[in-house]
Amino acid sequence: MSRIAYVNGRFTPKSDAVVHIEDRGYQFADAVYEVWALFDGKLADPEGHFARLERSLGELKIPMPMSRAALTTVLRETVRRNRIREGLVYLQVSRGVATRDHAFPPEGTPPSIVITVSRVDREATEARARKGVSVVTTPENRWGRCDIKTVGLLPNALAKQKAREAGAVEAWYVDDLGLVTEGASSNAWIVDGDGVLRTRDTNANILRGVTRLSLLDVARQAGLKVEERPFTPDEAVSAREAFITGAGTLVLPVVAVDGRPVGSGVPGPVATRLRALYIEHAKATAV
Ligand code: PDD
Repeated sequence: MSRIAYVNGRFTPKSDAVVHIEDRGYQFADAVYEVWALFDGKLADPEGHFARLERSLGELKIPMPMSRAALTTVLRETVRRNRIREGLVYLQVSRGVATRDHAFPPEGTPPSIVITVSRVDREATEARARKGVSVVTTPENRWGRCDIKTVGLLPNALAKQKAREAGAVEAWYVDDLGLVTEGASSNAWIVDGDGVLRTRDTNANILRGVTRLSLLDVARQAGLKVEERPFTPDEAVSAREAFITGAGTLVLPVVAVDGRPVGSGVPGPVATRLRALYIEHAKATAV
C-alpha cells in the first residue's frame, strides 16, 4: 500500500490526504491525469507521458502547474518517500478550487495537484501474462475527446465492471461501424492472419497510449509489420493473437473475446516477445 501522497505542495500520509469539496476535478471531472509504470523506482516512458500531460492540459486550457523538471523531482520524491520500486505512479491535475460555476474560474486560479504511488507485484503480473486474459466487448458510449486523458472515466468504470462481472479483465469498446476502438484502460491490438500487427489509428476517438506509441517503434525495430488499421471483434477472434497495452498492463496477451478463444486460446509468441521487448525498452528509458 502507498503511504504518502503529494497534495498541492505537501507530502501527507495518504489517510490524511484531502482535496477541497469545490475542487473542479471533483465537481466537473475538470482534471487530467497520467499513470507511469515504475521499474526499479524509475518512471517508464517519461517523455511520452509528459508530452501527453502537456497536450491534455493545453487542450483544456489548464496551465502546467510546474515545469517538467520540477514535476519530475516531485514525482520521484513521492516515489522515494513511499519506498516503492515496482509499481504505478498516478498524477492528477485539476483546474483548481472555485465556487461552483460551470464556466472557468478567474484566471490565476492555481491548478490542484495530487500524486499517489501504488505497488505492483511483478511476479503476479508475469504469471497473469503467461496465462493471458479475457476481454468482453461493449458499445462505445464515451464523449468525442477521448484523446484528452481526463478523469471523466464513468463509462470506463462501468465497462470495466461489466468485464469483471463476466470474469474478464478488460472491456473493448466497439463503435457504430462495428470496429474496436480501444479498451476501458488500454489500447487493443491483434496479430492478424498475415502476421501483421494491427491497432486502431489515432484519427479515431481513442487515447493515444504512450505504451502503444513506444510499442509501435519497438515492434518495427524487431522487424514486425505494423499497421494502424481497425479490426472487428470477429477479426480478433480469427486472428493469430490479440493483446492489450497500457502503463498498468504493459503488453498483456488476450486469449478470449466475449468467451470465444483467440487463435489457439493461449498467449502467442508475438505478444509474449513484445512484452519482453517493451519491458526492456521501459527499463532502459526510465528516469
Ligand atoms: N489507462 N486507453 C485508455 C482509455 C486508457 O485509460 C489507457 C491508460 C490507455 C493506455 O495508455 P498508456 O499506454 O499511456 O498507459 C489506453 C491508465 C493506465 C489508467 O487509467 O489507469
